[in-house]
Amino acid sequence: MSIINLKDKNLYYIGGVVRDEILGHKSFDIDITYVGDAIEFAKTIPDAQILQINEPFGTVRIKMNGEEIDIASTRCETYPQKGHLPVVGDIGCSLKEDVLRRDFTINALTKSTLTGEIIDYTKGLEDIKTKTLRILHDNSFIDDPTRIVRALKFSVRFGFELEPHTKKLQDEYLSNINYDMSYKRLKKELVETFNLNSWTAFERFIEQGIYKLIAPCEFTLPTVNLEELINLYNPIYPWIIYVGLLPDISNLPLTKSEKKIVDDYKKILNQVQNDKIISDFEIYKNFEGVNLETVLMYATVNTEVATRYLDILRHIKLEITGKDLQNLGIPPSSKYSEIFDCVLKEKLKNPELSKFEEIELAKKFL
Ligand code: CTP
Repeated sequence: MSIINLKDKNLYYIGGVVRDEILGHKSFDIDITYVGDAIEFAKTIPDAQILQINEPFGTVRIKMNGEEIDIASTRCETYPQKGHLPVVGDIGCSLKEDVLRRDFTINALTKSTLTGEIIDYTKGLEDIKTKTLRILHDNSFIDDPTRIVRALKFSVRFGFELEPHTKKLQDEYLSNINYDMSYKRLKKELVETFNLNSWTAFERFIEQGIYKLIAPCEFTLPTVNLEELINLYNPIYPWIIYVGLLPDISNLPLTKSEKKIVDDYKKILNQVQNDKIISDFEIYKNFEGVNLETVLMYATVNTEVATRYLDILRHIKLEITGKDLQNLGIPPSSKYSEIFDCVLKEKLKNPELSKFEEIELAKKFL
């Protein structure tokens, strides 16, 4: 764990960073909690420059010896609106109260910045040893159903299993989902989970019915395992390849490019019947201009067609341009795209065609 340059008897490492240190994993962010009011504490640190204060949340960002550090005050949280962001209660509560609002025992460990002692109120150390994911109270998933996806994420990331009572509460929630939830938070967890590119995660997501958190629909696991293909072609957004296969993800707040990936996939599904043999020209025209992610999604329907496009066809490009047609004395019109298509059909059969040969072909098709 990268240790911060700040020590105090009331200052603790908390959450994922302590878990990751015990597991010997690298931590991406370091959460630090001050037992009491972190903002007031920050003002008393010599040599610290206060960069940002968030009064309602009791958090503060400081800069010390060139290092930026976020410090949170211990706080309680309640969920007056289930499935949405919690409301911050008592700022400056005890360390134990702060810990008990959290998701799993493995994320409820704290470590003193002063002595290095680990404080374990919820038997998290034991659960790390036995590779167990255990929630802290029976309403945990009702308060925050994104924790079901977090459990999936931690289970594949660390090879942990849900403890039976936690699994039972997960199943109960999934059979009675409250769809009035924060889909922004759900999306964040889905992105983190499926960017891990794990087919096991997708299998569990489908087989345990976790996907129903997004929308009430039915879906069966595709037979084509996408993990290897994703590793091979290295797309920018692996998560959308998995989640976009579901029949309805309209509840998720998608970016423009994520929406295009999913819409293009649906369009191609409607255009190409998977039992029909399609020509290279048809494959080319269907996938031209779509993202790599869309083609990989289609690999679950017809791997051969998708990989033929990715390995061979997408690298074939016409050299002839509109300017060349103009030079032949053809005025710009819709005829251009017909001519290009005719030349393309030949180029797909013979990718070695030179620009000169393409122009000769164009003349022939006139
Ligand atoms: N937490 C929670 N419920 C959530 C999200 C987070 O109780 N829905 C708590 C957990 O104690 C978690 C901490 O807030 O450890 C920080 O959250 P986050 O940074 O999302 O998780 P990490 O455990 O740090 O995991 P990661 O390594 O994936 O960032």
